[in-house]
Amino acid sequence: MSKITAAITGIHGWVPEYVLTNAELETMVDTSDEWIISRTGIKERHILKGKGLGSSDIATEAVKGLLEKTGTSAGEIDLVIMATVTPDQLFPASANIVSDKVGIKNAWSFDINAACSGFLFALNTGAKFVESGQYKKVIVIGADKMSAITDYTDRTTCVLFGDAGGAVLLEPNTEGYGILDTKNYTDGSGRDYLYQKAGGSVLPPTHETIDAKQHYIRQEGQSVFKFAVKGMADVAAEMMERNNLTSDNIAYLVPHQANLRIIDATARRMGIDKSKVMINIERYGNTTNGTIPMCLHEWEHKLKKGDNLVLAAFGGGFTWGALYLKWAYDPQ
Ligand code: ACO
Repeated sequence: MSKITAAITGIHGWVPEYVLTNAELETMVDTSDEWIISRTGIKERHILKGKGLGSSDIATEAVKGLLEKTGTSAGEIDLVIMATVTPDQLFPASANIVSDKVGIKNAWSFDINAACSGFLFALNTGAKFVESGQYKKVIVIGADKMSAITDYTDRTTCVLFGDAGGAVLLEPNTEGYGILDTKNYTDGSGRDYLYQKAGGSVLPPTHETIDAKQHYIRQEGQSVFKFAVKGMADVAAEMMERNNLTSDNIAYLVPHQANLRIIDATARRMGIDKSKVMINIERYGNTTNGTIPMCLHEWEHKLKKGDNLVLAAFGGGFTWGALYLKWAYDPQ
């Protein structure tokens, strides 16, 4: 029997309607359009407005679109994995909430938290269930409502993040398409550079933690930048070497969108022309687990069966990784 690989057979992304521009941020904190664009590449980001809405609502829209596009019924899904750092609640898992909202009743589901590398880690995990032959249809979601943990009085973080999500369907393939190699890393000693301090078991939420704004993202930008540039570029180059990939036979680099300068450094290290790099950070900012599926969603119409893609990410924790896949279908 030929080897089973896990292939992406559909992708759908979703962003909320409200657009927060650099011009609006200039009225909120001491910043400028020029600073934000030159340091990050970001022009605007989408924000989920409305009481009672969370990451599961973003993910639900992505999954509904995915099921419709792929002609899949909710009842056929075996497993749902959601990567998020902004779950609706600490528990239950947001993947369960999405499954309920979409009507997925015959599957089990769980969340993965690996900060900005979460979607890659979840894709790797989902692929194993398909490769083992255990499951035929697995949904992997990356979705975040970053605005929920962003301090809009802190100019060093509030210009960076946005809300978005996407979902892919993984199915077995025996023709050599799909996910062919993955490599993930974590280094917990990086936990003090990028984190949300309070709200967990060490520092449960209190009036004091709220007053000290410890429920928001904190980042030592420059330190994270240095680790991110090295981590993402190194692991992407490692993925190329392991699989005899060259700048010519890679169709696209699909990088996590945290900062245009980190993306450029990764592409340079891989020797890849900018035309082969998926970049949409200017319109969405860093949507954490939403960035890579949103890129795949927006480039889907350009992807051809057999295209070699390298996905790469770096995130809080620290976490980082890369994944090599052969795209499994032509544009519909
Ligand atoms: N507008 C104007 N000035 C600003 C702003 C702003 N929005 N933010 C910071 N500044 C100022 C700083 O106060 C500082 O001023 P000072 O020199 O007077 O002290 C100056 O600009 C330079 O600040 P730096 O932090 O050194 O700026 P840097 O060039 O490093 O850019 C940035 C900051 C964009 C955050 C960058 O460091 C970065 O992208 N870091 C990595 C982010 C990342 O990859 N995160 C991982 C993924 S996210 C996740 O996992 C959830």
